[in-house]
Amino acid sequence: MRIDVITLFPDFIRTAADIGVVGRAKARGLIEIATWNPRDFAQDNYRSADERPYGGGPGMVMMVDPLRRALDAVRAAGGPDKAIYLSPQGARLTQRKVEELARREKLFLLCGRYEGIDERFLEHAVDEEISIGDYVISGGELAAAIVIDAIGRLQEGALNDAQSAEQDSFSNGLLDCPHYTRPERDAWGDVPPVLLSGDHAAIRRWRLKQSLGRTWLRRPDLLAHVAADKEMRALLDEFRREHRDATQAREDKPDRPRDPTDKN
Ligand SMILES: C[S@@+](CC[C@H](N)C(=O)[O-])C[C@H]1O[C@@H](n2cnc3c(N)ncnc32)[C@H](O)[C@@H]1O
Repeated sequence: MRIDVITLFPDFIRTAADIGVVGRAKARGLIEIATWNPRDFAQDNYRSADERPYGGGPGMVMMVDPLRRALDAVRAAGGPDKAIYLSPQGARLTQRKVEELARREKLFLLCGRYEGIDERFLEHAVDEEISIGDYVISGGELAAAIVIDAIGRLQEGALNDAQSAEQDSFSNGLLDCPHYTRPERDAWGDVPPVLLSGDHAAIRRWRLKQSLGRTWLRRPDLLAHVAADKEMRALLDEFRREHRDATQAREDKPDRPRDPTDKN
């Protein structure tokens, strides 16, 4: 996959994309990232890419002209015609969207700064807006790095074990199950015995039950979109019963041992 990014801070994107799984995907030639700085396309000696907003008010706005030249350069290099603008006003990024983006051969990301980008550029050069959440960050680079990371790890061959992405939260519509590693016993608790049993069918069932249970407890909204089969419904019922019993047992248990001299 080829990813073109228009950004005033190309080092940010390059550094973020050099680390971990995405760095490995790059090294393995699974993704290629090209950055385009509007300042390199400015026509004055100051390399200006932003100006004060018409109508007054605080801050600066990224100008059409340097951006348009950067866009032409992306197109000339074989990049997509239109960009995805990282914006708090865009559609919220989800794993489904990440999976869709990961299947594309080319991606073109546009990062804003300051108050944002001149609306005329957005109207002509952008066909999609993506938000990483309902909050405002100071630039699109962090959001673009999130998109690149999320899609980079889905490229075939990027993860050493492809199964790990399949088991992650959201990939099957559920949250991931809990994970444990050495030691088996610790002052803060023991590893659930089923995980040490070697019984793969029982382990699969336990993990599915935990996934269903966690989703029910933490993100019940997700469960509405899961096509649960008979086994899943039975496992979730089992989890709910166990959870209710454990909650009841905690409520029944006194906070401290009873004082045997206490007559009440
Ligand atoms: C300070 S913000 C400008 C926000 C803009 N004035 C608004 O309220 O819609 C600067 C840039 O950060 C990026 N940005 C901010 N919040 C974002 C979010 N939640 N998701 C994606 N990009 C975001 C956008 O590229 C934006 O142009």
